[in-house]
Amino acid sequence: MESVLHCHGGHKIPLIGWFMTSLFLFCAFPPIHSRLWQENYEPIQKVNADELRKTSKQFTGNGSGPDYFRLLERDGSSLLVGARNLVYNISLLTLRENQRLEWFSSTQDIETCTIKGKSSEECQNYIRVLMKKPATEQMLICGTNAYNPKCRDYLFEDGQFKQVREFSGVGSSPFDPRHNSTALQVDDQLFAGTVSDFSGQIPSIFRSPKTLKTKDGTSFFNEPNFIGSLANGEYAYFFFRESAIEYTNCGKSIYGRVARVCKNDKGSARTKYIWTSFLKSRLNCSVPGEYPFYFDELQSVSGLVKGNYNGRQQDVVYAVFGTPENSLTGSAVCAFTFGDIERTFNGRFKEQKNPHNNWLPVAPDTVPEPRPGRCVNDSLTLPDDVLNFLSKHTLMDEAVPAMYGRPLLIHISLQTRFTTVAVAPQKPSVDGRVYDVLFIGTNDGRVIKAVNLDLDNRNGEEQLIIEDIEVLPGQPVTNLLVANDHVVVVFENEIHSLKLQRCYLASTCRECVRLRDPMCAWVNDKCMSMDENNGNLPWPKSGAGPIQNIKTGLHERCPADPSIPYSPTTNQAAATVPLCRPCITQLQCPVCPNSAHSAHDQNRVAIHDPSKNNRQKPEDNEVPEYQTANTDLGNVYKEETLAIAVVMTLLPSLLVGFFIGYQVSRYRNSAFKESNLSETSDYSYGPHRPGQDPRPADYRSEPIYAPADYPSSKSINVVLNLQRNTLKNHATSTIEAKPNLPSKKVYL
Ligand SMILES: *[C@@H]1O[C@H](CO)[C@@H](O)[C@H](O)[C@H]1NC(C)=O
Ligand SMILES: *[C@@H]1O[C@H](CO)[C@@H](O)[C@H](O)[C@H]1NC(C)=O
Ligand SMILES: *[C@@H]1O[C@H](CO)[C@@H](O)[C@H](O)[C@H]1NC(C)=O
Ligand SMILES: *[C@@H]1O[C@H](CO)[C@@H](O)[C@H](O)[C@H]1NC(C)=O
Ligand SMILES: *[C@@H]1O[C@H](CO)[C@@H](O)[C@H](O)[C@H]1NC(C)=O
Repeated sequence: MESVLHCHGGHKIPLIGWFMTSLFLFCAFPPIHSRLWQENYEPIQKVNADELRKTSKQFTGNGSGPDYFRLLERDGSSLLVGARNLVYNISLLTLRENQRLEWFSSTQDIETCTIKGKSSEECQNYIRVLMKKPATEQMLICGTNAYNPKCRDYLFEDGQFKQVREFSGVGSSPFDPRHNSTALQVDDQLFAGTVSDFSGQIPSIFRSPKTLKTKDGTSFFNEPNFIGSLANGEYAYFFFRESAIEYTNCGKSIYGRVARVCKNDKGSARTKYIWTSFLKSRLNCSVPGEYPFYFDELQSVSGLVKGNYNGRQQDVVYAVFGTPENSLTGSAVCAFTFGDIERTFNGRFKEQKNPHNNWLPVAPDTVPEPRPGRCVNDSLTLPDDVLNFLSKHTLMDEAVPAMYGRPLLIHISLQTRFTTVAVAPQKPSVDGRVYDVLFIGTNDGRVIKAVNLDLDNRNGEEQLIIEDIEVLPGQPVTNLLVANDHVVVVFENEIHSLKLQRCYLASTCRECVRLRDPMCAWVNDKCMSMDENNGNLPWPKSGAGPIQNIKTGLHERCPADPSIPYSPTTNQAAATVPLCRPCITQLQCPVCPNSAHSAHDQNRVAIHDPSKNNRQKPEDNEVPEYQTANTDLGNVYKEETLAIAVVMTLLPSLLVGFFIGYQVSRYRNSAFKESNLSETSDYSYGPHRPGQDPRPADYRSEPIYAPADYPSSKSINVVLNLQRNTLKNHATSTIEAKPNLPSKKVYL
């Protein structure tokens, strides 16, 4: 095959180069390897759906059609859930329905919706927003209302909801229940991040009733998916992912972002109804190294967690990220502190002087005063130069670094992706410390329980996964909520509620300690939960106090239990193995460069063995580390398993290589700029770089999978589907249903 890749007459890279590159990269990037390997490890406790059903509760709604459940608000011991034509008020404890509020779209709205080509399922009223207004004791509710979003104020009187008024919900509620949107209540104001037009192309952050919104066009957003929002201090924060405008290499890249606006923004006289405080920055959830590996596709954020980390009081938010669909399937959980978020917003701005330049930091002395984006008492008094500056500079130069400088948790798997995260914050454990316990939903119906060990060890790779709980196999978890001692798991059409812990599944001391669950301890010959002990802290001291050891999962006071070997390596989720070194010795893998080993910090075998407790981690020296690593390995992992792991590692790269080869041969005139590869630190993932469209710009402007004469009379529905799926990432102006598509700039 004489296929070559080049970008508009750029240098040519033979296809074989791609193969070599991807092989090289897979070997040169040990952390991902070791994580890939972890697909084989067992979480400490697996709970299957049958076991779980003995203690969990379910809610399935009316069952008359898809509900697209959305958690709207927690109201004391009840939960308000948006559904199809309904708001359910269900009890947190039992998941039984307390009350319901019905709101059907009018026949006229449904007719209009049907005429516009939507299905009868879409032409329903999915309730997406609910806000209690303390001042008036009214409740604001907004729904998709058959693709014509409406809001209503209700008053609860004489045991009934009475409608007070109805008004447009455009900007507050999405048009489609499947649109990713977010809403936040700040005092009596509603802040919503959603699309505000029928075709789902105009995103906005909209505040009502004191109307403010973002400007259309790419200065604020570039095809965003809104993920979450929260208020902290004088700001409201919005989390979303979007096509990165500052990424000017070949193709396109999705970045996770946080945006900030002032709660008290009043707009300006000149730019009426437009925010005068909007700024955004990238979130950096990456595995560090010479070539950091980025998890960029933000999927979910937790609520605000206030806690003690590294001995300091900090405000933290947890976030789930994924990789692009067409690359290796990976998910990661990162934590970000508001200290770091604020530092980024107080840092330098980013700008592009003209469309042919790169995005560069703005020189600090050209930034006007008062500092753009910072809250002022009255934004109507902001001088023109500040407003001008803000209209051109919404993006910050630096990315918000992840707490600990790396993800807390990484999962590489062929099927499973993380979708959501919720936190049981600052749970006290027997060792006197507090831990954030994370619950992570997956796209295949599981909930993973993990612990933030709060190790400020930048090279540490320890991740502690306590449980892998099968809740509703095959169904993606769409939301999670930790409430009291339960975690509420939301699916499109079902809601489940599980206890935060299943300590009782451990029947011996060794099993109980092995769980390493901060919420469990062995006491009175039982594996008890801290909740059961109900605030009886400190635990009973009589003779033998509670037994637990989060750090190692071992305790000398546990009597021997022959069924569980006394080696923590079998139960430590943290065990990681460097694959590049075995790859040298076992397969004589020729592409493993020496440079890979210089990243010694990432290559260490992180198996903790208490029997060698005082053994130091090997220091960096001339002795090739893989020898020691292999010796350690031999005890734990068999050679066959290693070989499997290596194959598992190489397979995706070969598949990607094949895919690229296929694409290349398909578009022989295609182009790929070599210089891009060497000038960016993302080089390591060249061929299947997250979000990157391997196809050249000239092809991107054609609907490749649809014939050029694609009939425009086809329903919008079909077109949108194509765009979302088949043409994902290649959506272009040739699709008629996208009148306001922001023009994508590609500079080559
Ligand atoms: C609940 O289901 C019944 C029968 O399936 C249906 O008639 C009714 O309209 C549904 N209620 C709502 C609010 O969708
Ligand atoms: C939900 O139901 C509970 C129990 O009936 C009630 O106390 C609460 O006020 C209800 N919430 C709303 C918003 O109606
Ligand atoms: C919303 O987000 C989910 C998960 O990230 C994604 O699969 C889906 O396509 C998004 N919806 C839209 C309308 O983009
Ligand atoms: C993201 O964080 C990693 C690790 O801390 C760092 O190496 C990398 O340079 C950062 N990337 C950006 C774009 O800030
Ligand atoms: C803003 O208002 C507060 C109280 O209303 C006042 O103390 C402060 O000095 C004002 N700041 C400015 C910059 O005007």
